[in-house]
Amino acid sequence: MPTKKRKIKSKASPQAEMRSLIAGYWVSRLIYVAARLNLADLLKDGPRTADDLAARTGGNGPALYRMLRTLSSYGVFTETPGRRFKLTALGSTLRSDTPASMHGFALFLIGSPVWNAWEDLEFAARTGQLPFDRLYGKPFYGYLNEHPENLKIFGEAMTSLSGTENPEFVAAFQKVYEPGRVRTLIDVGGGFGSLLALILKKNARLKGVLFDLPAVIERARQDRHLTAAGIAGRCSFVEGDMFESVPRGGDAYVMKYILHNWDDEHCVKLLRNCRQAMNAGGRILVADSVLPPAEKPDWGKLLDIQMMVVVPGKERTREEFAALFKRAGLRLTRIIPTRCPLSLIEAVDARA
Ligand SMILES: C[S@@+](CC[C@H](N)C(=O)[O-])C[C@H]1O[C@@H](n2cnc3c(N)ncnc32)[C@H](O)[C@@H]1O
Repeated sequence: MPTKKRKIKSKASPQAEMRSLIAGYWVSRLIYVAARLNLADLLKDGPRTADDLAARTGGNGPALYRMLRTLSSYGVFTETPGRRFKLTALGSTLRSDTPASMHGFALFLIGSPVWNAWEDLEFAARTGQLPFDRLYGKPFYGYLNEHPENLKIFGEAMTSLSGTENPEFVAAFQKVYEPGRVRTLIDVGGGFGSLLALILKKNARLKGVLFDLPAVIERARQDRHLTAAGIAGRCSFVEGDMFESVPRGGDAYVMKYILHNWDDEHCVKLLRNCRQAMNAGGRILVADSVLPPAEKPDWGKLLDIQMMVVVPGKERTREEFAALFKRAGLRLTRIIPTRCPLSLIEAVDARA
């Protein structure tokens, strides 16, 4: 009988593995250039040569060819006969005009001012302080407030993530939502309102309040999400500082990607503000990563380092969330994982 040949899996040497990790930023920067030049948008109707793309972007053909060839080796494009490049499913995520686009996320995460702050990660390692604040002389949200262009890119980055994550979070929300008990939902730090819009779209009896800093609310009022038909009439906008107070009268307070931006002191202050403002029987619904124990790989662990560089926050474990809630007079009631990195973490008044 013929013996079956066994396939031997080639495993990269530790050196080769480390080389790839070390050069990881080369790939990031290539993706950044592709996003800046809107290459995915230009390829959406069919393959083009590097020279054609160069002519449309004011770029250099031979340089673009080499970049596209390398990105093709990572599956972002495919090189077809005649040196024409075609968009793949992976590359399509860089289109700016699709609901789950990663275009804004690429521009924000790999571009300045975040990129410049990452250069000083060693400063965080040595001092435990924030590279962003050291470099720009002010906190991240203060900086955004003064730089409308960066605020816009940040808003688009959050919308990028929301495209895939909001439906997952809303599926978890539907599991805890009781229409008879939750009439008004307040989205604290709700950004341009994409999450609130999706929740209101799914639940026709629910009213929503979008709460954020003044510059963000100004944009959100014009944004497509909460101005959409069937939603606009059920949503109001409130601007303010959540560490001062949050709007009163909510039956539920959603905070997505908020607690992970702040240190424990700020989180406790914010959670207390929510507890004081909410109706009797109200609940807090946090959307954040919940870090798994030990060395299990998890996106939240990398996101934690982004927090270390840019804002005074961190990603937390279940126990850390429970401790935060306790200090704010709340009680963690359940955690509902989703198919994306976010979990829904629910808390109620500890006296309830
Ligand atoms: C990481 S973003 C999350 C946005 C949105 N929840 C989402 O998931 O797309 C944090 C939000 O908190 C808002 N924010 C920061 N400081 C704030 C404050 N002191 N009061 C109210 N909102 C604030 C920011 O403007 C921003 O929209």
